[in-house]
Amino acid sequence: MEPLKLAILGCGTVGTEVVRLLHEQADDLTARIGAPLSIAGIAVRRPDRDRGALPVPRELFTSDAVGLVKRADVDIVVEVVGGLEPARSWLVDALRAGKSVVTANKALLAEDTATLAAAAADGDTDLYYEAAVAGAIPLLRPLRESLHGDRVTRITGIVNGTTNYILSKMDSTGAGFGEALDEATELGYAEADPTADVEGFDAAAKAAILASLGFHTRVTAADVYRVGITDVTAADVAAAKEMGCTVKLLCIAERRTDPDGTDSVSARVHPAMIPRSHPLAGVGDAYNAVFVEAEAAGQLMFYGAGAGGAPTASAVLGDIVAVARNRRLGRSGTPDSAYANLRIRPMGEI
Ligand code: NDP
Ligand code: HSE
Repeated sequence: MEPLKLAILGCGTVGTEVVRLLHEQADDLTARIGAPLSIAGIAVRRPDRDRGALPVPRELFTSDAVGLVKRADVDIVVEVVGGLEPARSWLVDALRAGKSVVTANKALLAEDTATLAAAAADGDTDLYYEAAVAGAIPLLRPLRESLHGDRVTRITGIVNGTTNYILSKMDSTGAGFGEALDEATELGYAEADPTADVEGFDAAAKAAILASLGFHTRVTAADVYRVGITDVTAADVAAAKEMGCTVKLLCIAERRTDPDGTDSVSARVHPAMIPRSHPLAGVGDAYNAVFVEAEAAGQLMFYGAGAGGAPTASAVLGDIVAVARNRRLGRSGTPDSAYANLRIRPMGEI
């Protein structure tokens, strides 16, 4: 069988691990897909940079992402760059041309899944993004597929590893916010600019993606009420502890039936005191955990590594196998989950 060709956009924390796993697991992946995968090119900002012992020839690196995406022999585009533009334009071009897309870009998905979904429909092709929320944890596929016959009513979770590390550290050692943030940065959890993490933007993006899939409604980051953790002090955490509680940055998305009989949804992200006996209270370090409540299924809990190169690459690889298999079998076209489009409640109604 002819190899399926991948264009990889980005080779940083996540992309490096994707390339490594594609190489190390090549035989298994070929067996699972029924065809080999081959890398057509890797687009980065600085193609001449030394990438250590990455198992790919230097000639594969290019700064021409547009040219790589447009190549006729590319079947699958894997985007691990991040940000709104130029990522959105690359992915729209790829999808419209019928290429399958795998992306970890939560910021873009939370802002504009509508445009990407429309392009995927135009190209009758797949748009997969399991890595965009909660790293390695299989969460979006269960929401998008396994729970499709049920009615999800609430999604509650810890979806940002950096802030969970900071709050856990403040709780266990009495450290102040600044000290705990410095440690999170040293350990590589927080970004060089940690604003998106500590101000809750990252968690809000993830809340929007979870609410969209869970409630079949287009929820964007702008619809999510958001408070970060920068105002949480060592004294707040100590007071919570005295009361048998701990402080966590929670993402809460809810569906409810309003008095007029119509359903509406809301999503919010903010620090909250939770009893130490609650299962989310025990989620330490940079881990993530998400509770999903559905009418028939009841309570489901998803737990694991929510950030980092290898855990995130695991989710990306799972998506690559899924879309590659679809291509090999000649089936494609991810159904758009936003068919219910329920009313989104503003903050005053939450
Ligand atoms: P990095 O900053 O480590 O890597 C970004 C990569 O994109 C680099 O290889 C960079 O090139 C390349 N790049 C940046 N701008 C351009 C451009 N204009 N054209 C071509 N290439 C470009 O990011 P991460 O690997 O951490 O994150 C990638 C994506 O995965 C983001 O969407 C992020 O939100 C998401 N994600 C990350 C997680 C994590 O734990 N890190 C977890 C879940 C999702 P160069 O190497 O030359 O600088
Ligand atoms: N900065 C993010 C976090 C990376 O700390 O959770 C994973 O999305």
